[in-house]
Amino acid sequence: MPRRVRVRVPASTANLGPGFDVLGLALALYNEVELVALSLGDSSPAIQVEGEGAETLPRDERNVVYRAIQRVFDAVGQPSPPLRISLLNRIPLARGLGSSAAAVIGGLVAANTWLGRPLDEPALLSLGLGLEGHPDNLVPALKGDLCIARSYQGKVRYRKLTMRRDLVPVVCIPNFELSTASARAQLPSSISLEDTVFNVGNALLLLAGLTGPGKREKLLELMEDRVHQPYRQSLIPGMADVFAAATKAGAAGVALSGAGPSIFAFAASRRVAHSVGSAMGKVFAQRGIKNHARVLAVDRAGARVFKGSSFKAVSAGVR
Ligand code: HSE
Repeated sequence: MPRRVRVRVPASTANLGPGFDVLGLALALYNEVELVALSLGDSSPAIQVEGEGAETLPRDERNVVYRAIQRVFDAVGQPSPPLRISLLNRIPLARGLGSSAAAVIGGLVAANTWLGRPLDEPALLSLGLGLEGHPDNLVPALKGDLCIARSYQGKVRYRKLTMRRDLVPVVCIPNFELSTASARAQLPSSISLEDTVFNVGNALLLLAGLTGPGKREKLLELMEDRVHQPYRQSLIPGMADVFAAATKAGAAGVALSGAGPSIFAFAASRRVAHSVGSAMGKVFAQRGIKNHARVLAVDRAGARVFKGSSFKAVSAGVR
């Protein structure tokens, strides 16, 4: 058994506009989970949190990473040993950037690695679904890159695709939290046939556009959504103006990031991505909402495991 396991998990942006609950993209902004065997008499706190959520996240059995770890030990029928769980969080909480999915995947992969990988990938994803019901964040957090993911009767089906390399992601993150539950409470219980067809068409064309050689300029129109964004708009002051500012600054596509409140955009270069980020930020700032924009890269690898004291990178830790 290793005495130490460290896992790095990417942020993710779900939906990408029309791909509500099925599309997600992994972003190069990472949380880390480290498990260390506690020696007898070690009285340091068993759960330590640094970075995002250091002031607010629980350090007891309510902690999501802790719960994910326990799920793995329970599923395998092993008592969990005394562990120190150290979390280094860089993904802002409750902003639509997949922080809960990263916490869940971090805990699952770390515990599974600790035990010598008894659980395969479908088993891990099913456990993950039980803790965080959104496969469009869970799958990119685990696998990286652009993913199509859906769950049905407790099982996840997914495809990982390679996103074209000439688009730069940028997110504008306002300084208020929005829970996914309250953002989902805004949604209608049914959608018209016309809006459904509109979204399915856009989502499929968008996928082709994000993975093929077509013109980037076409993406803007293809990221339009009629299933969730219009209903969530009232929860994010200035959302329509932020979209308009991003477009004016040259964004190749704009969407609400996951359930919000962050706004996600694609740009054709890092320079344009910086302009888009600051244009979006200005609109929030005009409404008195502090925010920060981040130009990021697409994460291609998903969850990575570092083992032992050398922290040498090994594979993603699942079969
Ligand atoms: N697809 C989910 C939603 C993502 O939009 O509610 C939650 O992060």
